[in-house]
Amino acid sequence: MTEQEIPSLSQYDFLQTDALIDGHWQAAMDGTTFAVDNPATGEIIAQVANCGAQETRLAITAAANAQAAWAQVPAKQKSRLLRAWFDLIIANENELAYLLTLEQGKPMAEALGEVRYGASYVEWFSEEVKRIYGDVIPAPGIDKRIVTLKQPVGVVACITPWNFPNAMLARKIAPALAAGCTVVCKPANETPLSALALGYYAIEAGIPPGVINMLCGKTAEIGDELTSSPEVRKLTFTGSTQVGKMLTAACSQTMKRTSMELGGNAPFIVFSDANLDAAMDGVMASKFRNSGQTCVCANRILVSADILDVFIEKLLARLEKAVVGHGVAPETTIGPLIHRQAVEKVEGLVERAIDQGAVPLTALDKATPAGNFVAPVVLKDVTPEMEIFSAEIFGPVASLVSFSDYEQAIALANQTTAGLAAYVYTTDPQTMIRASEQLEYGIVGINEGIISNEMAPFGGMKESGHGREGSKYGLDDYLDIKYICLGGLGP
Ligand code: SIN
Repeated sequence: MTEQEIPSLSQYDFLQTDALIDGHWQAAMDGTTFAVDNPATGEIIAQVANCGAQETRLAITAAANAQAAWAQVPAKQKSRLLRAWFDLIIANENELAYLLTLEQGKPMAEALGEVRYGASYVEWFSEEVKRIYGDVIPAPGIDKRIVTLKQPVGVVACITPWNFPNAMLARKIAPALAAGCTVVCKPANETPLSALALGYYAIEAGIPPGVINMLCGKTAEIGDELTSSPEVRKLTFTGSTQVGKMLTAACSQTMKRTSMELGGNAPFIVFSDANLDAAMDGVMASKFRNSGQTCVCANRILVSADILDVFIEKLLARLEKAVVGHGVAPETTIGPLIHRQAVEKVEGLVERAIDQGAVPLTALDKATPAGNFVAPVVLKDVTPEMEIFSAEIFGPVASLVSFSDYEQAIALANQTTAGLAAYVYTTDPQTMIRASEQLEYGIVGINEGIISNEMAPFGGMKESGHGREGSKYGLDDYLDIKYICLGGLGP
């Protein structure tokens, strides 16, 4: 796409820059805004309402007031509304993808993939909403009956990150609404427009006022209100482990339920019997998708020492074809990082790894467009003592660690406080089964680098958090089980 072909955002009805509170678009009460920029160019693309504590309280009240009526909406009607929302997202997928690329940076093909991925959760939960069953449980005596109901937990706060500004929000709002909850959402300030556009289509689809509320701005103020309000009964967060711990601690004061989808440190294990071309497809997808800015990115590539040289040769050949650039250019395969601090963090990790003995196999001064771009880096001889072994890189850096046998591979893989995703490449069925059982991770991809979809439970172990998103389990986090004991029924 040339400069002339880049459409202006102002032509899109879904371009909203105010907060969505009780079905209305509202400016910040103090009239202030903050700037949203394009990470590929630095150009300011919108000014968004800079909300704080007051607006958050209004949003919580709107969600609390809408809660009982929304919970009462029959499942079939909720299903139709969610389906109408899904249809609108899909009908406008190219435009939403374009907006996503402009504010987040990822290549258009990936942005379109994300819009469809996000929509798939709305579609999935428009179906699951009809399957929220209770139980009739055998009672200890003939004079009693035990019945369980599943009821919405209440108002849910959804705090979402900038790396998947559409999908992470859809993955939270859709199950919350299906369960009968109302929501107050705080999308990342770096990428609010994709989130607000989802809000726009939810209103267009007929989702009642107050059921979905959304605001951005003063993050600390909004976070304090959401975590301290007794009216908010659950908080679901996707983001860093550090912030997840702070939110969990704050939520404990009102005993809110929490779901935490936090940082990862995924091992990508390549055994000597692996199909190396399949492993290359997997590593390219899992390491370099979104420029390495996903929680499930391969963070440590563990390769059997006897195949390391050939693995490196194939990886460097694949990376020769990578094109770093503006996400709207069709040839781009690796977009910019989200901002300057992200670039500095990644560059710092690489520099310190090299100081500690890691060997760079790619030119570190490879030319990239000016801005927040980082060319792919491959580092060899990474060891557990190096910071880069335990840090979540969040950039296009392939960090190679070699191992000598199965036991060492699994021990290295589990040598982390994180436990979100792990990948294993092998053709041996025994290794597949042993490794999937012994890896301390919520998700294990065997000969597969893309593990996320709406039908599967996404979530981590250890410091990668708790709760599962998507799948038949994805509603559980938004439902309370109520047990009813019917007594006095005996002879
Ligand atoms: C994430 O990075 O948090 C989510 C990635 C995914 O859903 O695949």
